[in-house]
Order: sequence, then C-alpha cells, then structure tokens
Amino acid sequence: MNRDVPRHIAIIMDGNGRWARSRLLPRTFGHHHGMKAVGEVVEGCIEAGVDVLTLFAFSEENWSRPADEVSSLMNLLEEYIAKETKKLRRNGVRTRILGDRTRLDRRALAAIERVERETADGTELQLGLCVSYSARKELTRAARIIAEEVEAGRLDPSDIDETTVASRLYTAPWPDPDLLIRTSGEQRISNFLLWQLAYTELYVTPVLWPDFTRRELFDAILDFQDRERRFGKVSV
Ligand code: FPP
Repeated sequence: MNRDVPRHIAIIMDGNGRWARSRLLPRTFGHHHGMKAVGEVVEGCIEAGVDVLTLFAFSEENWSRPADEVSSLMNLLEEYIAKETKKLRRNGVRTRILGDRTRLDRRALAAIERVERETADGTELQLGLCVSYSARKELTRAARIIAEEVEAGRLDPSDIDETTVASRLYTAPWPDPDLLIRTSGEQRISNFLLWQLAYTELYVTPVLWPDFTRRELFDAILDFQDRERRFGKVSV
C-alpha cells in the first residue's frame, strides 16, 4: 500500500459529447459543462495537496472535428482564461499551456500568454492545460531540439540520457504523473504523455467528464493509495 497523495495527477477528460447526447443537447453543451468540472478538480487538487495537475483539453487530432466544434472549444478555452485567471492567481495556481502553439489563432495565443504571465508566481498547484497536444509530436520535437543542440556543438551524443529527453518535453521540470484518470470508461492512452506515463497508475471511471466532481477525484486518490507501486521491482 502507498498512503501518499499523488504529486502529479493527469486527466483525460472524456465523455462530454455522450453527456450532451444523453440529454438531447448539442455536443458543445457537454464541453461547456466540462469546464465546470475543470474548476472542481483544480480546487480538489489544492485541497488534497497535489502539486501538479495536467489536463488533456484539446488534442492535435481534435483539429479534425467539425469546424463549429473546434471553434467552440477554442472559445471555451478563452472563456475559461477570461473568467478564471483572477481566481487561479488568487489560489496560487501557476498555469501553463502545453502543445503546439503554431496552430492557435491570435486571440487564443493572447489569452494563453495572459494566463501564463499573470499566474507565473503561483506555488500552490502547477496546472498544465494540454492544447493542440500530441505526445508523439512532443517526443519528435524533443528529438529535433536535441539534434539541433548536437549540431551546434552544445551537446555530446554520448551524454544523451533519459534526463536529456525528459528535460526537453513540454512537462519539464515536473515529475512524471503518479496517477492518470480517464473518464467515460474508455481504456486508451490516446497519444497523451506517452513518455511521462511509463510507471503511472491508471484509473478509469465510467463517470462522464461533465459529471466528474471533487468526490470522484478523491475516490481516485483513495484508490491510488491502496495500490502497491513497484516500478518494475519486487515488493519488499
Ligand atoms: C472529450 O469529450 C473532451 C474534449 C475533446 C474536450 C475537453 C474540454 C473541456 C473539458 C472543456 C474545456 C476545458 C478547458 C480547460 C477550458 P468528447 O467530446 O470526446 O466526448 P465523447 O467521447 O462522449 O464524444
């Protein structure tokens, strides 16, 4: 058993569309309600003493959704930042956006830069919002950065180790997630934090993301605390 509170929790927030469909509402309503659940987990993590929370908000693959859904998700991100920045700042939540910014429009970029700037002093919780994020692209980008450093003579290939790679990922300098939560019952990683999840405990719940509350978060933490983490070794 392991009574520790996870230092880093990562969440694949899934099921917004199904939540809306079961109420005969447009999918975008599901995303809107999903935003409330984001507030719940941010506050729940502070309460529980978690250091880092990483949320999968918009994948690289999500760009292929219908244009109105993509723009509604981008608007939600901007709305979240407009509404929540003050509170994030007050609660000491340092917020960073992880992903490929080159695909974001000027308004989304400005919003992102604003929340990062205005919450930069936060020390209670580190919040990572993955936007236009793909783990394979993150790893490809790290490989490119390393190759450029080698080419420029700043890095010797024989010095490349796991730390070299990890420190060039978007999540640096955070520790790897201890716990990954995926809502809506799907049992997939979906190109999320492929490197960082190597030894992470997985927790899948049938609850759809808009229904996810602090209570569900605490249930996931309690479940995590009942697990024995061996990191490939034998129990002692
Ligand atoms: C997956 O549900 C969820 C998303 C693609 C978007 C997640 C976005 C939010 C929770 C709201 C905005 C968040 C922030 C941080 C502002 P789905 O649409 O794939 O659901 P389905 O599988 O039931 O169709």
